Amino acid sequence: MSNMATERVISVHHWNDTLFSFRTTRDPALRFENGQFVMIGLQEESGKKLMRAYSIASPNYEDHLEFFSIKVPDGPLTSRLQHLKEGDEVVTSRKPTGTLVLSDLSPGKNLYLFSTGTGLAPFLSVIQDPEAYERFEKIVLIHGVRYKSELAYQDFIQRELPENEFFGEMIREKLIYYPTVTREEFVNQGRITHLVETGKLFDDIGLPPLNPEHDRAMICGSPAMLEDISNMLDARGFKASPRIGVAGDYVIERAFVEK
Ligand code: A2P
Repeated sequence: MSNMATERVISVHHWNDTLFSFRTTRDPALRFENGQFVMIGLQEESGKKLMRAYSIASPNYEDHLEFFSIKVPDGPLTSRLQHLKEGDEVVTSRKPTGTLVLSDLSPGKNLYLFSTGTGLAPFLSVIQDPEAYERFEKIVLIHGVRYKSELAYQDFIQRELPENEFFGEMIREKLIYYPTVTREEFVNQGRITHLVETGKLFDDIGLPPLNPEHDRAMICGSPAMLEDISNMLDARGFKASPRIGVAGDYVIERAFVEK
């Protein structure tokens, strides 16, 4: 069996000029943990494949796969992926992997999911995982973006998930969504690091400041964001998971952005 599968695009949704999501069919044999990524790409005419890592945004019990992507006008892959249409083919790797998995977090009370930009993608899968709600009392999803139009999935998180017939009640009780915008007016403004350091985040959500005794975290964003947030956690005594398969107080992964 080849290590690549060919899937077909089911639907495409454009959020704004820079962001879009697409759904594909899923090989029923593909198994993954929520939070993991696969390689996605297009078959080129030369016969080569142009592949990039993409977090799976859909939970592992759905029969489709969903991906959330930036559109880079001159990006080798995203300049082409953004033109995907229903029925088109994409190539996906058969071996999902990644660090943002619940199994690499030691037990705790509150789970913080820190994301910026398309770093939201793996957490869309995690917040739809019933195990996350079994393991934690509260799940705080923080999404930092420059502009309001980049708050993709806002309606899904705020309106659809709480009404889900199977786990809506758990979501209403446990999920706290905190979108924040840095370059225009919004209810929540400023970088995540600033909101944590000033304590504004905790005042707003009604939880105590970050503490490794009861909090766990996952981080996904740009390299600079990852560095700043992990430094902030380290300074508070959090221990990072050293590698896949070894639990820690937090796990970290670069959002896969094509530059
Ligand atoms: P800002 O507008 O102040 O740069 P980007 O698109 O550059 O990845 O940024 C996405 C969001 O993440 C923006 O709101 C941006 O804020 C914020 N951001 C960028 N770098 C950091 C960082 N080092 N720590 C926290 N937030 C960051």
